[in-house]
Amino acid sequence: MLFLQLVLLAVLLLGGDSEGDSQEPISFRIILTTSFYSSSSTQNQGSAWLDELQTHGWNNKTGAFRYLQSWSKGNFSNEELLEVQNLFYTYTIRSPSTFHNHIRDWHLEYPFQIQLVLGCDSHFGEASAGFLQLAYQGSDLLSFQNTSWRPSPEGGSRAQKICSLFIEYHVFSEIVHKLLFDSCPRFLLGLLDAGKAYLQRKVRPEAWLSAGSSPGPGHLRLVCHVSGFYPKPVWVSWMRGEQEQQGTLYSDILPNTDGTWYLQVSLDVKSKEAAGLSCRVRHSSLGGQDMVLHWEQPHSMGLVFLVVIVPLVLLAGLAWWLWKRWKAHWRPQCTDFPSEQEPSSPASSTYLNPAQH
Ligand SMILES: *[C@@H]1O[C@H](CO)[C@@H](O)[C@H](O)[C@H]1NC(C)=O
Ligand SMILES: *[C@@H]1O[C@H](CO)[C@@H](O)[C@H](O)[C@H]1NC(C)=O
Ligand SMILES: *[C@@H]1O[C@H](CO)[C@@H](O)[C@H](O)[C@H]1NC(C)=O
Repeated sequence: MLFLQLVLLAVLLLGGDSEGDSQEPISFRIILTTSFYSSSSTQNQGSAWLDELQTHGWNNKTGAFRYLQSWSKGNFSNEELLEVQNLFYTYTIRSPSTFHNHIRDWHLEYPFQIQLVLGCDSHFGEASAGFLQLAYQGSDLLSFQNTSWRPSPEGGSRAQKICSLFIEYHVFSEIVHKLLFDSCPRFLLGLLDAGKAYLQRKVRPEAWLSAGSSPGPGHLRLVCHVSGFYPKPVWVSWMRGEQEQQGTLYSDILPNTDGTWYLQVSLDVKSKEAAGLSCRVRHSSLGGQDMVLHWEQPHSMGLVFLVVIVPLVLLAGLAWWLWKRWKAHWRPQCTDFPSEQEPSSPASSTYLNPAQH
């Protein structure tokens, strides 16, 4: 029993530790996609990502990096960034011709795509050695391991042929090795440091409830929307008192345009059982104080009658009474109209004939 308690305690402590730790594993990825349309037409697209946040864009005409965050240069000097930029540009100019020249040999067929992913990871403030992978039409072709290229098993003979050619380019392998084992880990740590304030910020969610499209007669879909939170980990549940409700449905956590996140959590219930349900939100920005939103009973028909119909009837009555009054007052004035004009004609004639004064 004591042992069990110790284990439980250890689990709780460790669990608590990892929750409070902001040094979650985080990855840096450079993605370059080359689309081969014909022997004379290719298109390059490149970008760089810190987990799901895009940090860099790439101008495929000039080969210039675009720094999308104020801290996207990390701690690299402009010279070192230009050096890396030139390496990429050279690769995107040279590598397509290598593929164009081996179309038959490598059994490639236009149109096709070659994707390159280069990156490294950081965990507990330490960056791992990087990796590089090439894919053809989305399936693995080659990777760079240790100091050399390896064909991937699913790439078949095509991967082996491409690999043996890449191995011959010694200078290329040396450059890749330096990028993966030196530049990438160093850049990632500098980037995480420069972007610390942004990456470790905490933004409170807003939450609201709505009724979704009814799942069937006599049933309600209760939807709890949670939006604008950062970082991504969040806990949301439909509750009755302290009891989590079974059958809660979670949407994907979707990105907002400002880098925060959105989640929708719904629950189908019998209309009669909706009362007393609440949506509970737990997030690191809330300082241990969960947000709780209570589902409010839709107004009963009696209330609708009182609140909507009665005032409508009263208003209609008032309008009718006003209209009758208006008619009663206006009619005599209308018949008076000609007689009112008569006294006005002498007035205008006095005006027209000032000589009479
Ligand atoms: C650059 O990328 C855009 C799409 O983002 C594409 O339309 C264009 O053709 C590309 N240009 C080159 C030279 O790859
Ligand atoms: C990488 O090289 C080291 C020695 O240089 C070796 O011990 C290790 O097994 C290699 N790893 C892989 C994945 O080939
Ligand atoms: C950038 O920061 C990393 C990690 O703190 C460090 O290893 C590196 O020397 C710094 N400077 C450059 C130019 O990489």
